[in-house]
Amino acid sequence: MTGFARRDVLMAGIMGAVASPLVARTDIPPSLDVLARRKGLRFGSAISWGTAGADRGSIANPPYARLVAAECGVIVAENEMKWQALRPSPTAFAFERFDAIVAWAESKRLATRGHNLLWHQPKWLPRWLNSYDFGATPKREGERLLTTHIDTVLARYGKRIESYDVVNEAVRPSDGQLYDTSLSTAIGGAEATLDLAFHTARAGAPRAELVYNDYMSWEPGNASHRAGVLKLLEGFKRRGTPVDALGVQSHLVTQGLDARASVTRLERDWRQFLDAVTQMGYALVLTELDVRDNGLPTEITPRDRAVADFTKGYLDVTLSYPAVRDVLSWGLCDRYSWIEGFEPRKDKALRRPTLYDREFRPKPMREAVAAAFAAAPPRNRAT
Ligand code: G3I
Repeated sequence: MTGFARRDVLMAGIMGAVASPLVARTDIPPSLDVLARRKGLRFGSAISWGTAGADRGSIANPPYARLVAAECGVIVAENEMKWQALRPSPTAFAFERFDAIVAWAESKRLATRGHNLLWHQPKWLPRWLNSYDFGATPKREGERLLTTHIDTVLARYGKRIESYDVVNEAVRPSDGQLYDTSLSTAIGGAEATLDLAFHTARAGAPRAELVYNDYMSWEPGNASHRAGVLKLLEGFKRRGTPVDALGVQSHLVTQGLDARASVTRLERDWRQFLDAVTQMGYALVLTELDVRDNGLPTEITPRDRAVADFTKGYLDVTLSYPAVRDVLSWGLCDRYSWIEGFEPRKDKALRRPTLYDREFRPKPMREAVAAAFAAAPPRNRAT
């Protein structure tokens, strides 16, 4: 069966399975989540809220929602749980959109990850918070704002969410230092602010997995980012801050056509980083997998092949760590990837960063993820 024909069978199988779940069909290939669970992993993806019929990667876009439901066992809201979405003002919460995503996930028997309780950068906080007047007792007011936010979110979702990115991207890649924000300035420093976020989360959701999530990666130029994250994780351990796992976003960037040569060059430093993290006792969550197809030709066939080989090489190394439990992609379909707006290709060709193309057809990257799950050593989820 040619690649194209196989892709069509795969696509028809996956979409057909969702269309007529009552029919016990044998021609449906196992979903990525089924393949993942055979090794004690789960597979998932980001998904958004959207208005009915909008051409977006959302729960209200039937073909996209069907694809996510067919392939995944866990989802994460791309934007709807962030402060910028939840907090229109210091006193208001806007939960409607995130409520809809959690309800949709439960209707499809999918778990939900919470992303995120604090994105520790001024750029990603609501405008009102960056200019907020913390008054005569700024520490108390800053702590009140942060704990009220976390307590309110955790109380609303309770056990419906069992893993949270408590803090997102607090380390400045260029020098490994922690960012400061209006909130951390008021509270008395970034470490105190992040510690408070995790302690508040542990108190509010004692059974949830608490994750520090960041995009340090294995490509050249990430050394100071990795070092800064290690320093932060060591500090959490030293201070007894309740952090269970490192969220490894996995926004990969290809390094040229010879993906296998790239993997050989990148593996040593990446293993050194993952060894250091896991030897401190942290679990690992791959939270936002996608691939920026840099240094690759315009032609789709060689570009998709290199993206797939790079993905497989990355997952072969990273999934060799039993500490990895969940693997989530940052969207399942090229059509809706954030990367197109973030960094368009210089040749103006559309990016091809995810497992399915713009017409919802599976790509070699999907086969690469499936092959990586098949090759991964089994692990016990309970550990
Ligand atoms: O919803 C508003 C809409 O009402 C408004 O008209 C429009 C124009 O300003 O903006 C819309 O919000 C946008 C939002 O995406 C939803 O589309 C924000 O401006 C835009 O900044 C936001 O971008 C998201 C970005 O995080 C910042 O939050 C991307 O979709 C999302 O993919 C990206 O995801 C991040 C992870 O959270 C953390 N790791 C990196 C990853 C990629 O940057």
